[in-house]
Amino acid sequence: MLKNSAELLELVNSTLNNLCSGRDEYMVLTESMKYSLEAGGKRVRPLLCMAFASLCGLSAEKALYPACAVECIHTYSLIHDDLPCMDDDEMRRGKPSNHIVFGEDTALLAGDALQSLAFEALSTDENIRNIGADAAIRCVNTLSILSGAKGMVGGQVIDLALEKCDGDVDTVRLMHSLKTAALIKSACVMGCVAAGADEEKINAASEYAECIGLQFQIVDDILDVTSTTDVLGKPVNSDSENNKTNMVSLLGIEECRQIARSLTDKAKSSLNAFEGDTKGLEDFAESLLNRNK
Ligand code: IPE
Ligand code: IPE
Ligand code: MG
Ligand code: MG
Ligand code: MG
Repeated sequence: MLKNSAELLELVNSTLNNLCSGRDEYMVLTESMKYSLEAGGKRVRPLLCMAFASLCGLSAEKALYPACAVECIHTYSLIHDDLPCMDDDEMRRGKPSNHIVFGEDTALLAGDALQSLAFEALSTDENIRNIGADAAIRCVNTLSILSGAKGMVGGQVIDLALEKCDGDVDTVRLMHSLKTAALIKSACVMGCVAAGADEEKINAASEYAECIGLQFQIVDDILDVTSTTDVLGKPVNSDSENNKTNMVSLLGIEECRQIARSLTDKAKSSLNAFEGDTKGLEDFAESLLNRNK
C-alpha cells in the first residue's frame, strides 16, 4: 500500500463528510449521499490522485479536493449503476444498494447531487489555495471530460448496449477504457496537474492509469465469476445474469488473468518517466491485480 495511506484516507473521509454537510433542509438527500460515500469503498481513485501528486513533488494533502472530487463521481456512478434500469443490483459495499434503502427517486437524485458536488469541491477556495486557479480549472476540464459522454458515461452506454448484442474484444476494450479506466485516469492526471507536472509526466500517468484501469475491470469481471457475495460486498454472477459481454465471457478466465498480468507490468514500466520513488505505485498496481474485493 501507499505510504501513510491510512491518515490520508481519514482526511478524505472527513472532507467528503464536510462537503456533504450543511444541507439539512434536504435531509433525506444528504443521508442518501452520505450512506453511499461512507459505505466502505476501497478509495482506489483518491489514493491514486494523492500518490501522483506526491510523486510530482506536491504534498499529498494538497491534492485532497481533486481526490474527493473523483470519489464523488465514482460513488454517483455506482449508485446509478445499481439501479433497476442498469445492473439491477441490490447490494453494494456490503450493504443494501442506495435505491433499496432510499428508493429509486432519491438514489437517482443523490447520484446527480454527488456529480455536482465533485465540481463544487474542485472550485472551493481551499482547493484554489492548495493548487492554484489554473490547475483547479484544468482539473474541472479533466474530470468533466473523463466522467461524461467521452468517458465513464460513454462506457456505461456501451456496457448496456452489449447486453443486447454481441461485441468483439476491441469493443469490450473500448468499453473498459471508458467506463472504468477513464475515472482512474482522471485521478492520476489530476494528481499530476495539481502538482504542476509537465506534459510528459501527465502522459505517463495517463498511460499507467489506462493499463491499471483495464486491469481493474478485468479483475472485477473475474471476481464476478469466482468470488462470493460476502467477500465482494456486491452480488456475484451479476454480469452473466444481465447477459453482459465482457472479457471473461469472450476469452475465459485464464486468458483474462494473463492479460491482467501483462497490463500490470506495462503500467509499472510507464512509471519510468518519473524521477521520484515509484515503488508505492508499482506495489499498488500489484495489489489491484491480486485483490479479492
Ligand atoms: C467498482 O469500483 C466499479 C468498477 C469500476 C469495477 P471499486 O471496486 O473501486 O468500488 P469501491 O469503491 O471499492 O466500492
Ligand atoms: C463498472 O462496471 C461500473 C461503473 C463504471 C459505474 P460494473 O457494473 O462491473 O461495476 P460493479 O461490478 O457493479 O461494481
Ligand atoms: Mg455496470
Ligand atoms: Mg454493476
Ligand atoms: Mg462488475
